Amino acid sequence: MENQAQERKKIIFSGIQPSGQITLGNYLGAVRNWTQLQEEYRCIYSIVNMHAITVRQDPAQLRQRTLEAYALILACGIDPEKSIAFIQSHVKEHAEANWALACYTQFGELSRMTQFKDKSAKNPDNINAGLFTYPVLMAGDILLYQTDLVPVGLDQKQHLELARDVAIRFNGQHGNTFVVPDGYFPKVGAKIASLQDPTKKMSKSDPNPRGCVYILDPPETILKKFKSAVTDSEAQVAYREGKDGINNLMTIYSCVTGETFEQIEKDFSGKGYGDFKAAVGQAVADHLAPIRDQYARLMADKAYLESCYRAGAQKASRIAGRTLEKVYKKIGFLPQ
Ligand code: TYM
Repeated sequence: MENQAQERKKIIFSGIQPSGQITLGNYLGAVRNWTQLQEEYRCIYSIVNMHAITVRQDPAQLRQRTLEAYALILACGIDPEKSIAFIQSHVKEHAEANWALACYTQFGELSRMTQFKDKSAKNPDNINAGLFTYPVLMAGDILLYQTDLVPVGLDQKQHLELARDVAIRFNGQHGNTFVVPDGYFPKVGAKIASLQDPTKKMSKSDPNPRGCVYILDPPETILKKFKSAVTDSEAQVAYREGKDGINNLMTIYSCVTGETFEQIEKDFSGKGYGDFKAAVGQAVADHLAPIRDQYARLMADKAYLESCYRAGAQKASRIAGRTLEKVYKKIGFLPQ
């Protein structure tokens, strides 16, 4: 019976790049929701190190960051017994799916990807083919697991739509092969903005280091970053158009305390921005403290981490292998 219930559960897949420290944007837009979905769904989460090499990485640092990112998602609450948590390069099917699906993706579609345009503008001396075909690798990640829902932040919406289009195209040509996935965006927090330029998304590539908060920042750093957050001259804590800085702070506060915007407006009515910024900083620091502690414990136990990611890769590979076999058959590859 229990097995049957497990079978009927919808499948969730998502990934995060180990290309730097995990930011508060990654956490509130994605990872925090991953943990909440574990009870209801069959969840599969990956540290997508193959995506990370579309920009130059130092090999030793990439290895270290991959392990750190893995430990951090567990510290955030991903339970490797309940969910499958693995490292992308350990599951060879991702590279294979990438090639097969690339032949079902159009040059024109990839040319329209805004992240490709942004990233190639930022790295003009390394506009490699991987950067261009990145969304195909991502489509493979998702489609290999017959994923129903993909919890991501808004910046991944266009990539997700491409994955859907590729699935629909392949199914149209070869008959039902892939589940066509839907995006799953948080109601609050799908786009956390930079603290220094609230018209831009919070990102580790923020030119101003105070714009981006990291999950592992010490509490003093978090408080300082929030104190220097850019706001407006109105001195009224209210969620309204044109108040990007305050809207962002209210969003962050709401995510970590569970308070509604109405409650926040009431609680801070008549108070200055200084008080509000300090309160948001404190709430974020308090929320992240247990994650930091758990991360330190996990990083001190490399053998445990290794056993988790090995087991995760085995489970992932079994599922991905089944899909890839089906794909190869439909394409017309002669079986061995
Ligand atoms: P990545 O590593 O850039 O980001 C990981 C997740 O964090 C979300 N995110 C944000 N959400 C809200 N506000 C922000 N400021 C913010 N910054 C980042 C992202 O939307 C993402 O959900 N291509 C993906 C990784 C990937 C993937 C996949 C995701 C590879 N394969 C398959 C889902 C399914 C990426 O670069 O995410």
